[in-house]
Amino acid sequence: MSTQNAFRRFAGTEGYIASGPLVDAVNCSIALERPLLIKGEPGTGKTVLARHVAEGLGMPLLTWHIKSTSKAVEGLYVYDTVQRLNDSRFGGGDVSDISRYIKLGPLGRSFAAEKRMVLLIDEIDKADLEFPNDLLRELDEMRFTIMETGEEVAARERPVVLITSNNEKELPDAFLRRCIFHFIDFPGREMMKQIVDVHHKNLDAKLLDQVLIKFYWLREQNELRKKPSTSELVDWIAALLRSGITPDQVESHIPFLGALLKKEQDVEALESYDKRGGRYPNKWSDLGPRYNQ
Ligand SMILES: Nc1ncnc2c1ncn2[C@@H]1O[C@H](COP(=O)(O)OP(=O)(O)O)[C@@H](O)[C@H]1O
Ligand SMILES: [Mg+2]
Repeated sequence: MSTQNAFRRFAGTEGYIASGPLVDAVNCSIALERPLLIKGEPGTGKTVLARHVAEGLGMPLLTWHIKSTSKAVEGLYVYDTVQRLNDSRFGGGDVSDISRYIKLGPLGRSFAAEKRMVLLIDEIDKADLEFPNDLLRELDEMRFTIMETGEEVAARERPVVLITSNNEKELPDAFLRRCIFHFIDFPGREMMKQIVDVHHKNLDAKLLDQVLIKFYWLREQNELRKKPSTSELVDWIAALLRSGITPDQVESHIPFLGALLKKEQDVEALESYDKRGGRYPNKWSDLGPRYNQ
């Protein structure tokens, strides 16, 4: 394999539209064996990217969903003291063998696996600030020691690590220094057409234009508290298709608003705009220059 081919391990998949810079960032992270930190507004495909990287590389995917209560050590292993106590009470085998009660977490399993894996640490910004700091050494060295048994778990094959953040919290500099970073920009008109095509093959071109014009127009309305995202667009189109609506009906209206707007104030704002006889754009030229280059 030439050096260039060896670098380009990931080339995207049919089910995921990845920009050139995103593909480069994935390949850079694989080549340098550093975690890839992906940021971007909700619904820009951060979580599903991991599935497609795994698919593209032909590796299994392990996911660690982070919650506000997540602790870094749980990703490595947990010591099931409750089970051990139960066993000692009710005679469940050799309780002096502590290793029976050590359960590897997602990070631990990805280290212990025989084959190289893709590990997704999803929504790292949900946890407290200590969380990323506590993972620095393990992610760097890809090894850790199980305190209770003294056993060391070292990665046989360093996993491909993807970390997502919705930017709810700033991540520590020491953590950022160890990652490759990519921000997924909100997709523009042409890229969004490709993304829609992945989910709704061969959509009527006129309907596609009408839904995208309405969608981007809605996103431009500053008073909205929550802008609709790509996933909501995909759902909205599914609702339109199932209802058998014609492109003409989407020309002058936004049917099934509930698929796009998720805050009552936003729905009310649009309904009152409608009542006041507000107009909806139906040509790309009705939108700003950003959409007409
Ligand atoms: N680039 C893309 N290619 C294909 N589908 C996409 C893309 N971006 C977003 N989607 C769709 O949007 C949905 C939301 O993506 P998700 O990964 O959950 O977003 P995030 O994790 O950034 O909030 C996915 O189910 C996927 O169907
Ligand atoms: Mg996500």
